Amino acid sequence: MNILVTGGAGYIGSHAVRQLLKASHSVVVYDDLSHGHKESIAAASSGLKTSAEFVQGNVADSKLFTDTLNRYSIDAVMHFAAFIEVGESVVDPEKYYRNNFTNALSMLHSLRSGPKNGVKKIVFSSTAATYGNPLTSPIQEDHPLLPINPYGRSKMMTELAIRDFAHAYGLGFAILRYFNVAGASPEVEGFGLGEAHEPESHLIPRVLAAAAGKSAAIGIFGTDYDTRDGTCIRDYVHVDDLAMAHVLALAKIQDGKGEVYNIGSQNGFSVREVIRACEKATGKTIPVEEKPRRAGDPATLVASSDKIRKELGWTPKYPDLETTVSHAWKWHQSHPMGYKSSR
Ligand SMILES: NC(=O)c1ccc[n+]([C@@H]2O[C@H](COP(=O)([O-])OP(=O)(O)OC[C@H]3O[C@@H](n4cnc5c(N)ncnc54)[C@H](O)[C@@H]3O)[C@@H](O)[C@H]2O)c1
Repeated sequence: MNILVTGGAGYIGSHAVRQLLKASHSVVVYDDLSHGHKESIAAASSGLKTSAEFVQGNVADSKLFTDTLNRYSIDAVMHFAAFIEVGESVVDPEKYYRNNFTNALSMLHSLRSGPKNGVKKIVFSSTAATYGNPLTSPIQEDHPLLPINPYGRSKMMTELAIRDFAHAYGLGFAILRYFNVAGASPEVEGFGLGEAHEPESHLIPRVLAAAAGKSAAIGIFGTDYDTRDGTCIRDYVHVDDLAMAHVLALAKIQDGKGEVYNIGSQNGFSVREVIRACEKATGKTIPVEEKPRRAGDPATLVASSDKIRKELGWTPKYPDLETTVSHAWKWHQSHPMGYKSSR
């Protein structure tokens, strides 16, 4: 298939580009580079027979977006493009509703005027943040959506729009709700494909930055939760396993129908356990600073991933946290300044 990947120059999108190319799809990356890196597109194709095309643009630029759909006879879209900072979404919600919802809506509109009577397949990057504070654990896909911040709400609103477009206009969809994503692709020589967020708010790269001496210590926000060691528990998935889930989900999409899948490892790790795994992978002692709880952090967020395992045969290749962390560490060591290190 001819696949357009919005946000394909970002962390997860670029890893999905690689798995799509390996599955013999033709890939066009569509990214405005507001947070992405052009170097990641070349890295995603490194060592493969084919490479991805790149179009720089915003998904809300309907003319460029529609022209791109037509020019490359696009059959399906994977929509990764979004802003991802929960904290920023609280202080600047308009930025999040505009990009993650309004611009996504504009993109959905453009799909209707794409080639062959419209593009009828979409895989959408959603998030555990749509669930809010879990009422049950592990979280299943039919858990109520009660997001507690504008980021989660903006993603939920796009999910709802996609469902309504499916009902009314025959769009087929797979909504993937990711839990915590980490690691880097071991397939790319020299660990040349990885996570380069600026700012970085995710736990594992922040712990690794502390291990590398780039920050004085890693903050632990709350040590009195009702968990096995008092710190928050989260569910981590390797970015290559997540990328494979996209390839599998795409293959099953039917016009006008859709499915929602959680993507997590079904195993929770506490903040202290993550720090210990990072110490093991790096061979360094990582200084910690214990701080009060942050508002809005649930004690435990763990996915049930039974559905995607049963229905799509998804089996993570890298189920253990230590492997994920060691891949992330190799990327950070070889690219201490992210993609700027490759320039
Ligand atoms: N990183 C995680 O742990 C995580 C967890 C759950 C869900 N998600 C979702 O996964 C997706 C990808 O996350 P990521 O970590 O790769 O983020 P990222 O910031 O690395 O990638 C997002 C990409 O989208 C591009 N982009 C943003 N708005 C755009 C627009 N309007 N038009 C064109 N390009 C645009 C950016 O330049 C960037 O390259 C997001 O939708 C995010 O909500 C991520």
